[in-house]
Amino acid sequence: MTAGRLTARRAGPLKGRVRAPGDKSISHRALILGALASGETAVEGLLEGDDVLRTAEAMRAFGAGVERLGEGRWRVAGRGGFAEPDDVVDCGNSGTGVRLIMGAAAGFDLAATFTGDASLRGRPMRRVLRPLGEMGARWTARTGERLPLTLHGGGLRRIAYRLPEPSAQVKSAVLLAGLHAEGGAEVIEPEATRDHTERMLRAFGAAILVADEVGERRISLAGGQSLVGTKVRVPGDPSSAAFPLVAALITPGSEVTVEGVLLNPLRTGLLETLREMGADLSVANLREEGGEQVGDVTARHSGLRGVVVPPDRAPSMIDEYPILAIAAACAEGSTVMRGLAELRVKESDRIALMARGLAACGVGVEEEPEGLTVVGAARANHGVRGGGLVPTHGDHRIAMAHLVLGLASDEPVAVDQAGMIATSFPGFAELMRSLGGEIEAEAAAPA
Ligand code: S3P
Repeated sequence: MTAGRLTARRAGPLKGRVRAPGDKSISHRALILGALASGETAVEGLLEGDDVLRTAEAMRAFGAGVERLGEGRWRVAGRGGFAEPDDVVDCGNSGTGVRLIMGAAAGFDLAATFTGDASLRGRPMRRVLRPLGEMGARWTARTGERLPLTLHGGGLRRIAYRLPEPSAQVKSAVLLAGLHAEGGAEVIEPEATRDHTERMLRAFGAAILVADEVGERRISLAGGQSLVGTKVRVPGDPSSAAFPLVAALITPGSEVTVEGVLLNPLRTGLLETLREMGADLSVANLREEGGEQVGDVTARHSGLRGVVVPPDRAPSMIDEYPILAIAAACAEGSTVMRGLAELRVKESDRIALMARGLAACGVGVEEEPEGLTVVGAARANHGVRGGGLVPTHGDHRIAMAHLVLGLASDEPVAVDQAGMIATSFPGFAELMRSLGGEIEAEAAAPA
């Protein structure tokens, strides 16, 4: 991974058809469920980003056979459970990886020590440890329940857990632990979050019940269930597709199609919001692949208007606020985003970093404890100034969002630590260049 800078500058229109890399959420789950299952799981279209490669390595450490057969094609030989790893499990930058793996590991009689990079070591793990502790798991962690931590699993009992924060990671950790808990587990979600774990557990043969009730969703599964290996086809990641799509919307004369994008309704909040802003977005070739809705999404350059984003839409677009803020910067009028407490505990404090990055590029922005208002720069003969060097704190989405801004702003935009983009979108700069975008590497100045 390089630590260098990338700089994006305005060039011609963006044109072409591309495929987004495999969905990150589904890729992690395919490897973890494959390792928990008995028999073979064949995965196609796996995201080969650093986050997911860490999970592949972790699954080997817990005893599964994990083999790469070709580009995006992987085979997992599950042992029907986890064995104790003989070294520390390093999940790199990935909150999804570590939280889901901790949930899965808690079901077995083993001790495992987890760590990650500086960003992950600063992120809250209490949200997962609390329910796992109620189920009977034990741990020793750094102050504030941060990584590194050692988890002792096994002997779990039933839990009925109402999620205090809308988090698919926490829901998934509890469900995966519940598979091996006496009496299983029930999770109650006041706000529905991405449901890939539920869908995939079913595909691996688990009996799982999802009930939509007034104002909440209840997900329950019985304990002592065994999973059976299966085939998983990973669709394109809507959170990655968002970058070329928004780039096309804000760059005059552009038309870009991203093929095979996952369109699970719990992941499409950004597309809905962009449409409300006046975006010309169309979906063709809508189909079902591996139990998920998939389609080819086309974006054409559009005059965007600022909107108020409903806070209850946040779970369906939680990773897309950085790129929405870029669309908002290029729109006419202000865009108000609220209900974003979770954005402060992602790979970085994304509210603070978007506010800083946009301000460095001449965009009017107002930071709130749980929100962000962006003042759009679109008026006749006036766009976004750009010209900033944006600190990303190693956050891949902060980096990609500002590079997209650089493609449409008057002056180039540079980001530091561009190597981190490979956690979720290896080949991002090349893909943008294939569409006509000008994104160039620049070596970091010597310290
Ligand atoms: C994810 C859930 C979200 C999201 C993350 C992936 C998942 O996190 O931000 O990138 O795969 O379950 P939270 O569950 O913390 O909201």
